[in-house]
Amino acid sequence: MGKILLAGGAGYIGGHTAVELLEAGYDVVIVDNYSNSSPEAVRRIEEITGKSVTTYELDIKDTDKLENVFKDNDISAVIHFAGLKAVGESVAKPVMYYRNNIDTTLSLLECMSKYGVHNIIFSSSATVYGEENPVPYTEEMKRGTCTNPYGWTKVMMEQILEDASKADAELSVVLLRYFNPIGAHPSGRMGEDPQGIPNNLMPYVSQVAVGRREKLTIFGKDYDTPDGTCRRDYIHVVDLAKGHVKAVDYVFGHKGVEVFNLGTGTPYSVTEIVDTFEKVNGVPVPHVYGERRPGDLPESYANADKALRVLGWKTEKTLADMCRDSWNWQKNNPNGYNK
Ligand code: NAD
Ligand code: UFG
Repeated sequence: MGKILLAGGAGYIGGHTAVELLEAGYDVVIVDNYSNSSPEAVRRIEEITGKSVTTYELDIKDTDKLENVFKDNDISAVIHFAGLKAVGESVAKPVMYYRNNIDTTLSLLECMSKYGVHNIIFSSSATVYGEENPVPYTEEMKRGTCTNPYGWTKVMMEQILEDASKADAELSVVLLRYFNPIGAHPSGRMGEDPQGIPNNLMPYVSQVAVGRREKLTIFGKDYDTPDGTCRRDYIHVVDLAKGHVKAVDYVFGHKGVEVFNLGTGTPYSVTEIVDTFEKVNGVPVPHVYGERRPGDLPESYANADKALRVLGWKTEKTLADMCRDSWNWQKNNPNGYNK
């Protein structure tokens, strides 16, 4: 078997997936431009696994440069993590988001076609279910209306991959719709390292706990949910990474497009996250309640039955594990990979 190309493999989810793939015996190649990550993340992957990783620093939109990776390596499958992912920034800079996220996908598909690589796994998102679908989301639901350009890039890329698969009977496409990844590697050596002010809940909570930010603002407490705050399907990043190993096993024996939700199926509210974090870690997370954040849905959670039935995958870690590992990463690396 050839190597698995991890596009955006130095990032939060790609890095954890690299570790799980290497530990399962797969050979990987990482391609990343470090626009939202750092070479130090690759060093940590090598440290945790004791294996060295072939890495290319390049912009995946640059098809000519990307081609060299396919020329130099025997690639048997691609996992496409590379993308910009900040919802608010995508509203302010839609063209940059469409350019980066769509062009990386097209560039990868062109190289795959030229070099006879037939297998691709794509990092999609629960956001493609949009505003219309009722929770819990199941894979056969139609993609809905997104509230921001980031979400639309995911909808468009799913469509592009479906069209590519219709035109090429050899192609095997797996669309993984992630719910809300949080947590970190239990070693405390790898985790999420957002640049600037975090947009997402768990990095914000951790940075408040470590004293980098004064307090958390909980966005809205008047939603139609049990405690009035939004509920999400938080999934430990290591469980998510293990889902990719199962998807790699699956993608080789399959043709056409298959979609999987990767979530736990159990929603937790913002308040439950804060309470669990404080309790498990014994640290206070000062917080206040503020206005709703535009575009937030009251609830988003998966029906995760298909991944269990078809891939034999389900999550193993608890919310307490997620909070403990996020804090373990944050307190040992208060400034992320910049030490
Ligand atoms: P991340 O930003 O940590 O990782 C993405 C990586 O891609 C980064 O290392 C970045 O430097 C790289 N990259 C971006 N554009 C590139 C380009 N043009 N060329 C080369 N490298 C490029 O994000 P993540 O949280 O690991 O997310 C991975 C994927 O999963 C993304 O596509 C994201 O949209 C998707 N996703 C993430 C979440 C989440 O909450 N983290 C949820 C659903 C889906
Ligand atoms: N939240 C706060 N305060 C904060 C940050 C977040 O109260 O400072 C709340 C949000 O309002 C939301 C919950 O915490 O209710 C989770 O917010 P995140 O930003 O962590 O996650 P989202 O569910 O909004 O977004 C995630 C991914 C996106 C994806 C989206 C829909 O980050 O990539 O799910 O699938 F598009």
